[in-house]
Amino acid sequence: MRAHVIDGYRGRGLAVRVPLCAAMHGKGSMAEYNQLTPELIAELENIVGGDNCLTGEDINEDYSHDEMPIYGTHMPDAVVLPANTNEVSAIMKLASANNIPVTVRGAGTGLVGGSTPLAGGIALCTMRMDKILEYDENNLFVRVQPGVRLCDLAADAIDHGFMYPPDPGEKTGSIGGNVSTNAGGMRAVKYGTTRDYVLAMTVVLPSGEVLRLGREVAKTSSGYSLLHLMIGSEGTLGVITELSMKLIPNPKEDMSFILSFSDIQTAIAAVPKIKLAGLNPQSIEFMERDIVDSSAEYTGNKIIPTVVDGNECGAYILVTLDGNDEDEIFQRAETLAEIGEEAGAFDTLVIEHPADKAAVWAARSAFLTVIEAETEHLDEMDVVVPVDKIAEFLGFIHDTGVENDVLIRSFGHAGDGNLHIYCCGNNIEREAFLEKSTRVMHAAYAKCNELGGQVSGEHGIGYAKKEYLRESVGDMAFSLMSSIKQAFDPKGILNPGKVCN
Ligand code: LAC
Ligand code: ZN
Repeated sequence: MRAHVIDGYRGRGLAVRVPLCAAMHGKGSMAEYNQLTPELIAELENIVGGDNCLTGEDINEDYSHDEMPIYGTHMPDAVVLPANTNEVSAIMKLASANNIPVTVRGAGTGLVGGSTPLAGGIALCTMRMDKILEYDENNLFVRVQPGVRLCDLAADAIDHGFMYPPDPGEKTGSIGGNVSTNAGGMRAVKYGTTRDYVLAMTVVLPSGEVLRLGREVAKTSSGYSLLHLMIGSEGTLGVITELSMKLIPNPKEDMSFILSFSDIQTAIAAVPKIKLAGLNPQSIEFMERDIVDSSAEYTGNKIIPTVVDGNECGAYILVTLDGNDEDEIFQRAETLAEIGEEAGAFDTLVIEHPADKAAVWAARSAFLTVIEAETEHLDEMDVVVPVDKIAEFLGFIHDTGVENDVLIRSFGHAGDGNLHIYCCGNNIEREAFLEKSTRVMHAAYAKCNELGGQVSGEHGIGYAKKEYLRESVGDMAFSLMSSIKQAFDPKGILNPGKVCN
């Protein structure tokens, strides 16, 4: 087995994400709404309490956008922070009766303008509903409020002997937000996405009516799945106020490996081989040298080696294997190393120490933060393509970037073909940058369609990607989506201007 233990590296952990400064006003074609009057604001204060209803200068500018303000900013007229389902229901009844738009927001870490209150009105923030309510150890689920952060649920589940498998890059996002976008993350290749972990939810409809969807059972063939319609609907169909999330027993062992290569095409070519070998990896991520260098510089975490056996690394595949038996994992690791060697890897490095493993994954999780920190204007795409088309797509996007004079940076989930691609602009006017990046985006989404891919693997559609969704699914499917929206929200008050409305 050609494998070495990484030792002697100690990362310093993660820096926080930096907010972007770019901003724009963008509105879709939306219904006419009423303004919030002082009387209505007084009613909102009655519902949530004065401290939990913000207006005017008390509203932080953060509420006007998500993590990608380049896709649109708009200040809400009021921000409400309800504490429970009843308060959400009362807010929606008030909004519905008075035709006031409501945009739901979790931690604000979205990447497609999904929680931007484009029509003003009420921003309904779920972050006060942040309780982990109950573990059901016999039926393997946990009941939570939507404002629980992913990092808190993941850590708490481990303390209870469970794993909550979904592991999106942004750990401070809320579970409600993760469900609303069907967030995927690093472990989707083995464990699936957030959708696969939602057993049941409580939802407040735009009318204010409360609905319980799904049940805490292992399977169902019980009519149309409204539960699954709600998952990934990005706050356009209802307000999620409680969730029952499936858990699994925490695997006793896991080990991560860095396979280093000369270039990204060689690295990606190894991925189908790893999958075919039945190694059942928890994660297969790809990263290129530029992002590894930037991450090391920005975070001080130099855990990922840049020279292996005297070779300059150009690209990497990061793999995690898990299970309950260390020897059995080592056997799979041997096969992994053999596949790596055949595929042209310089080496397969075993990351044995827990601190090193944490540092490697912290470096990986910081990639977007690092790109944000280094970039003035950022446009992103989150396509998913068949795994055997990843290399072709990456080659295409990098060529398209060169043709349009736009710096492209990329990383992503090689195991499931979900690619995070960034158009980056520095020392350029915002409008000039957007003109170029939009040309790149158009070409890239067309290529994604041609390769049999989808617009978004995990970040969603929000406001930014509506046009590409329509092109990808076609008018008939898009119009069916709009009819579903109409059935849930006939007045169109919930998250106007997003996904398909
Ligand atoms: C990640 C986010 C950007 O994978 O989806 O880090
Ligand atoms: Zn991701």
